[in-house]
Amino acid sequence: KIVPIILAGGIGTRLWPISRQSYPKQFRKLGADDSLFQDAIKRFQGALFHRPIVVTNDSYRFHVVEQMGEIASLPEQILLEPISRNTAPAVLAATLATLAKDPDAVCVVTPADHLMPDHAQFAACVSKGLSAVHAGHMVTFGISPNRPETGFGYLELTSPPTADQETVRLKSFTEKPDVDAAAQMLASGRHLWNAGIFLFRARDMVAAFESHAPAMLPPVRAALTDKELDLGFTRLPRDHWSALPDVSIDYAIMEKQHDLHVVPYDGRWSDLGGWQSVWREDVNNAGKDATVTLGDSHAIDCQSSLLMAEHPDQVLVGLGLENVIAVATKDAVLVADKSRSSDIGALVKDLAQRG
Ligand code: GDD
Ligand code: MG
Repeated sequence: KIVPIILAGGIGTRLWPISRQSYPKQFRKLGADDSLFQDAIKRFQGALFHRPIVVTNDSYRFHVVEQMGEIASLPEQILLEPISRNTAPAVLAATLATLAKDPDAVCVVTPADHLMPDHAQFAACVSKGLSAVHAGHMVTFGISPNRPETGFGYLELTSPPTADQETVRLKSFTEKPDVDAAAQMLASGRHLWNAGIFLFRARDMVAAFESHAPAMLPPVRAALTDKELDLGFTRLPRDHWSALPDVSIDYAIMEKQHDLHVVPYDGRWSDLGGWQSVWREDVNNAGKDATVTLGDSHAIDCQSSLLMAEHPDQVLVGLGLENVIAVATKDAVLVADKSRSSDIGALVKDLAQRG
């Protein structure tokens, strides 16, 4: 069985003020029954998968336990990071923990902040990747791009996918290109977006770290050796974790790995990374000038806007707005030009520094 590794330690600053350091977006229920984290867990409840390893920040441990309890899911292990070091160390720790139990283990790493509701189709795509994995390749999942998004990784295919092929070999992997490069890759028709999901044999991932990021192995190994077990949590000690660089798996490994394969995924997929993508997702069926209203909010003569009142005692009214994001929570309000939604992460970090 495949071991799912669920990454749920990001802060999601671009969705401020809904996503907060203490309560980030993957645990929020943006109008749905399940949070994005719960949906990610449910994606791996089928027979193909083992119980998941969840890797998250120490401060989110109770969200994880509570939300897994709500959907009656038991984790194999919950690894707690004392500070954020991005996804590369998190993936390595979970992979090494898996390898220690089973030298032939196959893992699938997934983000916890995506909308990917078709679980059966997803499982079918994972199955398609397995023969490449057993041949020693790491496998990614690719989404057809429809805009020059700079917040994603781009997968360059060696040849167009054909119906009888389970996976396509990659020529290159480019993480978060600038706008010009993104536009070129979109126009080339040879690229897919990286869904952020990786399938691999545990030992191949460790070998990839040995080749591309060997300095990360000793601190992560030491953290696992010196781990503290605490009420079902596995705590990674701060002294080892703070010795690690802050780097994502995409930059540390995937851009440098030369034998990647991809399974194209054509089900519904959205990285709800910022307000513009929340708007885009909700507006889908309503036409591209529509305004999205969430919570007790009302739009009068508005276009292409998103209004959200989070607190049940609040009402939010927009009048004559165009391209505006307005989000009100109990203690913070955001009013922004929709085209600036990717700047919100930087703004929030700036606010935090000013105190
Ligand atoms: N445990 C842990 N620790 N998880 C983390 C950490 C961390 O320090 N930092 C981020 N995560 C989690 C996030 O919660 C999210 O679920 C996942 O890891 C991915 O992190 P993001 O920060 O959201 O990455 P991204 O969206 O910028 O880029 C990745 O996803 C894109 C698709 O959505 C890359 O893989 C891109 O190549 C990809 O296109
Ligand atoms: Mg993301």
